[in-house]
Amino acid sequence: MCGIVGYTGKNMAAPILLDGLAKLEYRGYDSAGVAVRNTKGKHEIVKTKGKLCKLNDMLDGGNALSGTCGIGHTRWATHGAPSEENAHPHHNDDMSIVAVHNGIIENYTDLKEKLLNKGYRFYSETDTEIATKIIDYYYRKWDKNPLQALISFTLRARGSFAIAAMFEDYPEEIFIARKDSPLIVGVTEDGSYLASDVPAILKYTRDIYYVDNLEVGRIGKGTVAFFDVDGKQRKKKPKKIDWDVEAAEKGGYAHFMLKEMHEQPAVVRDTYNAFVRNGKIDLSEGKINDGYLKGIGRIQIAACGSAYHVGVVAKYVIEELARVPVNVDVASEFRYRNPVFGKDDLLIVISQSGETADTLAALRMAKENGVKTLAVVNVLNSVIAREADKVLYTKAGPEISVATTKAYSTQLIVMYSFAIQLAMVKGSINEEKYARLIDEMSKLPEKMEKVLSEDERIKWFANRIMNKHDVFFIGRGIDYAACMEGSLKFKEISYIHSDAYAAGELKHGTISLIEQDTIVIGLVTQTALAEKTKSNLEEVKTRGACIMGVTYNGNYLIEDLSEFTVYIPSTEPCFTASLAVIPFQLLSYYVSVAKGNDVDMPRNLAKCVSVE
Ligand code: AGP
Repeated sequence: MCGIVGYTGKNMAAPILLDGLAKLEYRGYDSAGVAVRNTKGKHEIVKTKGKLCKLNDMLDGGNALSGTCGIGHTRWATHGAPSEENAHPHHNDDMSIVAVHNGIIENYTDLKEKLLNKGYRFYSETDTEIATKIIDYYYRKWDKNPLQALISFTLRARGSFAIAAMFEDYPEEIFIARKDSPLIVGVTEDGSYLASDVPAILKYTRDIYYVDNLEVGRIGKGTVAFFDVDGKQRKKKPKKIDWDVEAAEKGGYAHFMLKEMHEQPAVVRDTYNAFVRNGKIDLSEGKINDGYLKGIGRIQIAACGSAYHVGVVAKYVIEELARVPVNVDVASEFRYRNPVFGKDDLLIVISQSGETADTLAALRMAKENGVKTLAVVNVLNSVIAREADKVLYTKAGPEISVATTKAYSTQLIVMYSFAIQLAMVKGSINEEKYARLIDEMSKLPEKMEKVLSEDERIKWFANRIMNKHDVFFIGRGIDYAACMEGSLKFKEISYIHSDAYAAGELKHGTISLIEQDTIVIGLVTQTALAEKTKSNLEEVKTRGACIMGVTYNGNYLIEDLSEFTVYIPSTEPCFTASLAVIPFQLLSYYVSVAKGNDVDMPRNLAKCVSVE
């Protein structure tokens, strides 16, 4: 996820661009840049690796660049490490076309091949430079018609994009195109503004045009025109935004955590699209081929917190599908327990930040022992990503809330993809199951949307339990692994004690804690274990527990036992954590809100624990 801005009007563009980018820094901050059409009618580009403040200093707050039409970008790297070459804006050879982009062009390799065959050369590792040169190609093909060039790009590119481009032959105008990535336009008498998100232009206008999918636009000084991909002009009405600036940064949501929960379907789809090509798993981004997978004898997983919980889910999934033994440890234990390594071991470390000290130490210890290492990371080029032998990136985008949601969900997708391909290579699943699993994984985003729509009911139950002191999450198999994440989410933002238990383990001690009205959340999705979990819920019910059930639509096994039941769409048993975690996230969120806690920055916690 990156941030793009643009302006054309009466005033100098650079200060406006920098101000807009500052409001979008939460969308990405590893590099930034602007392009302004100068007084000689030429494009000037200034960009740098590092935070926006560095660009601001380079431009003396914008005074160093003269011109009233420009575009800007703040980057969250997905293709190509953070660097000046990879920073946006990108341009064609003579800089007569410059562009900024937010999104992921999935068919960038095909497009690059096409351009190389046409004699184009490249200076960066980004999909955006390829997009810019595709636009250049179509601009030349369509007799220098920028709208037609953007329409052709929109129809040719696959993936998500919000792109803004300036053409030297079209002074003081900016051309835009959108598919899936957000893009808005505001028009005032001082000029016209474009941005990825409302915070960047709210100070100028509250009348916002939301660019629709497969729509292109032509922005002039105080004007805007929208067209469909047939080139027909579209009449659009602006929407009035009544958010304040702070709310706007959260996309109108009350907290980043709620916004990021609702981003999960989209970023899960982005992550799925990164690892599935034409119905097959493709791990080539991590330079992982079938030969590499064949050589794996055992997997060790080390991670912390929610990332560790992903590892626990992955253990069940990998062992079930691929029949390869898996050990999972919290990294702080792994690094000190002097683990035994086998010559065919693979250590997988999972980390959103890619900077967690214990996880990094586990990685380094494995490497010192000559063990192959793979990192599953969200932040491109983070230290864990750099030091692991191989890395697979989640496409969650920047995660602001300390309590992780979308990073957890996208890490699951990476681990499912890894497990399915490993199982296929090991011959433990057949083509039919391989295809069925991949097809079902592609349906998770829409199923996650359905579960997110349960939020009002869950909010009601959250208000009922907000003053409780103990909450237990119980389940069996992958349900138990999902309960671990549910319990951590719950306690870290509600400040109510919570524990996750293997449902079969309760009677070995913990059941002594169950008393009248103790809250027990029972997750029942593993059909083969459902009756057993039901018995465990009956055991706690007879001791006075108040039960919240989470189970599949149409499965009324625990309906009579539960005070409150959340039904989730059915899916492959190995994928249920992706759906079951959402009611847990929502419940935790609404209890925290009800208690007036700082949801996004809970007490005692930090987003990244880069110290031991
Ligand atoms: C999750 O909600 C927590 N914020 C925390 O447990 C987190 O998952 C853990 O610190 C690991 O962080 P990482 O994924 O960046 O390594």
